[in-house]
Amino acid sequence: MQGITGVSLEAKNVLLRTDINLPIEDGKPKPTVRFERYMQTVKRLQKKGARTMVVAHQGRPARDDFTSLRQHAELMSEELDGEVSFVQGFFGSEVGDAIASMEEGDVVLLENVRMLSEELQNMSPERHAQDYFVERLSSYFDVYINDAFSAAHRSHGSLVGFNDHLESYAGPVMERELQNGRKVRDRFDSGTLVLGGEKPSDIIGMMDEMIENVDRILLGGIPGELALSIKGNELGEKSSWITEKGFDSGRDDLERMMEKHGDKIYLPEDVRTETGNYRVSEVPEGEMTWDIGKETAEKYRKIIEDSEAVVMKGPMGAFENHEEGTRKILDAVADSGGYTVIGGGHTSSLVHRFDREIDEFDHVSIAGGAFVRYMSGEKLAAVEALKE
Ligand code: 3PG
Repeated sequence: MQGITGVSLEAKNVLLRTDINLPIEDGKPKPTVRFERYMQTVKRLQKKGARTMVVAHQGRPARDDFTSLRQHAELMSEELDGEVSFVQGFFGSEVGDAIASMEEGDVVLLENVRMLSEELQNMSPERHAQDYFVERLSSYFDVYINDAFSAAHRSHGSLVGFNDHLESYAGPVMERELQNGRKVRDRFDSGTLVLGGEKPSDIIGMMDEMIENVDRILLGGIPGELALSIKGNELGEKSSWITEKGFDSGRDDLERMMEKHGDKIYLPEDVRTETGNYRVSEVPEGEMTWDIGKETAEKYRKIIEDSEAVVMKGPMGAFENHEEGTRKILDAVADSGGYTVIGGGHTSSLVHRFDREIDEFDHVSIAGGAFVRYMSGEKLAAVEALKE
């Protein structure tokens, strides 16, 4: 797999697969660390004199965040030198016309590629290489760069199909994420994993892969609450809410892991509800738990402070309204002298929210599902396609 350093892209037509899938708030895409990182790549291509067409997605069909990329083009125009034109199509004359009118350093953005049904088929690179839009688009370009690490776990057309047709490279975000992720996976001897967020099923693989190599795993968020209910704690309304939402799908695996590695897995000892802070065995009936409690946050803080390495994925609770636990843990990771990594869709956006700086961490991954899978030792479809 080759990066773009030293590769001449001057006057080349470059197809850049990036991932500007952003949170949508009040109908508008909200720029995040992920957006900033991917814009750095586009700037680099501009400097190299490439004519860049950006391919990206937003949301998934039938979800609220599934929208056109027109507003993303406006955001990009604000961030980059020169206006980014938006192309509302995938293979008609509008694509050819846009490319023909581009000069060196120009950038255009194609419509949300998930509007094409063939994009979303989970198929092999060989099959996707035959997609109509992959074949048509390939004919306009000299080079394909895949920088979309955060979507690299998907075997979708724009992520795996172009490698067969075009000279292909890994983008700088992709390279950096893989390098840093490898460092953690391979050298994480006496570290602490801090796992929270929503989906316990997402973190089971990560626990499985790393449990032999880490000293301890601190659980918060829904995974922490699920673990508490496995231990027989009644968490007010939360236990039934977890089942209703289907967040208990990883229950058996988590239970198995807790039986085998109970000494390494730390659970919250107290929690925060709307009315106060309670021991986990004393949550009042009918109340909802929102965050880890004060004592747990303090205990986790001390452990993190003394760790040689820390990986944090996912907030400790519903930080939008109850931020105390997540803030304290994020601060502890930032202030720790160990090797620190944070990752997961929500987690990286917490950095600015809680007034911390990206460079206070050794690595901030902009990925969610891809980060978890990579840290879990899984192969990522788009990375494999680049290697071939
Ligand atoms: C992400 O935001 O994690 C990536 O863009 C992948 O999105 P997806 O989970 O909808 O495939």
